[in-house]
Amino acid sequence: MNSVKALVLSGGKGTRLRPITHTGAKQLVPIANKPILFYVLENIISLGIKDIGIVIAPETGEIIKTTVGNGDRWGVNITYILQPEPAGLAHAVKMAEPFLKDAPFLMYLGDNLIGSGLSHFYQKFLEKKPDAQILLKAVSDPSRFGVARIDENGQVVGLIEKPKKPPSNLALIGVYLFSPKIHEAIAAIRPSWRGELEITDAIQRLIEWNCPILSEVIDTWWLDTGKKDDLLEANTIVLDEWIKRNVQGKVVDSIVSGRVILPASARVKNSQVRGPVVIGEHTIIENSYIGPFTSIGHKAKIINSTLEHCVLLDGVKVENIERLEDALIGRNSKVLKNNRLPKALKLMIGDDSVVEIP
Ligand code: TTP
Repeated sequence: MNSVKALVLSGGKGTRLRPITHTGAKQLVPIANKPILFYVLENIISLGIKDIGIVIAPETGEIIKTTVGNGDRWGVNITYILQPEPAGLAHAVKMAEPFLKDAPFLMYLGDNLIGSGLSHFYQKFLEKKPDAQILLKAVSDPSRFGVARIDENGQVVGLIEKPKKPPSNLALIGVYLFSPKIHEAIAAIRPSWRGELEITDAIQRLIEWNCPILSEVIDTWWLDTGKKDDLLEANTIVLDEWIKRNVQGKVVDSIVSGRVILPASARVKNSQVRGPVVIGEHTIIENSYIGPFTSIGHKAKIINSTLEHCVLLDGVKVENIERLEDALIGRNSKVLKNNRLPKALKLMIGDDSVVEIP
């Protein structure tokens, strides 16, 4: 077998994460201050895959390139593939054909987080050499996803997109392995009702051609970080499972307890920070309480406020806020309270923002 390549899909529109995605790529939104895409790449690299293609969109491609680089930092080669419009996952594979050539490949959606490594899934593919292998997860609401029908040998016998009557509770999650046969299947399909070339249609075509298609069900967590609540949940899980205490910054008249990351350039004064919490470089916390499951980006300022279960990106300022909970706040935004009369909300809010007031 040719050596296996990887294809990471990092284009798309990101409409569900607006307004954050008006100015940035959703795959670069940080979870515990590390971009989602980096978790994806590290998972791929830990399998020993060295040749990675990243599909990018014209709007967000440049920022992804500058943030990720050419792979030197991990000792791998990264090639960027421009997809002019988000015409579907199978369309992204089509755009990547000159990079993939006739190599088998791992395809991974750039906004998916999985709670485990993929070595068992990968080894099975190397041993059994199917034409496609899909990763599945038992979910409580299968009709929101692509769902697989599996026979008693674990062979995939059918795929259905968002079925009204799901044949199983096994949803396709964003990780696939393919032989080069997938290119023939993609060449044979037409765009779906929503105008996209669907990877599920291409796999369905392989099934019709009697090609061997295997699957594996994961029992760890999986999160598609495309929406705010999923992103906050991903942040909670990652902080809960992967964060170790590392307090280097200056702590004055404060209590910093539990698993907290506080870099040397950050400082906490007259405050309480209760882990798991991640705080970015040059961030200042004063007269505040930072509760569990909060990630605060770099160069942020939290003054006289209480936060819990929040994701704040770089440069955010929060001042005089009694309690902020379940919030996702974009770069350089300010959340302030002034006590001057008359009492009124004064807002300057970007497109597609959501403000919930008790
Ligand atoms: P989705 O989340 O399904 O699509 P999207 O990014 O357009 O988001 P939204 O629904 O909020 O508008 O895409 C899954 C991943 O695949 C995501 O990382 C973007 C990527 N993708 C591509 O690279 N090319 C494509 O044509 C599509 C549809 C998605």
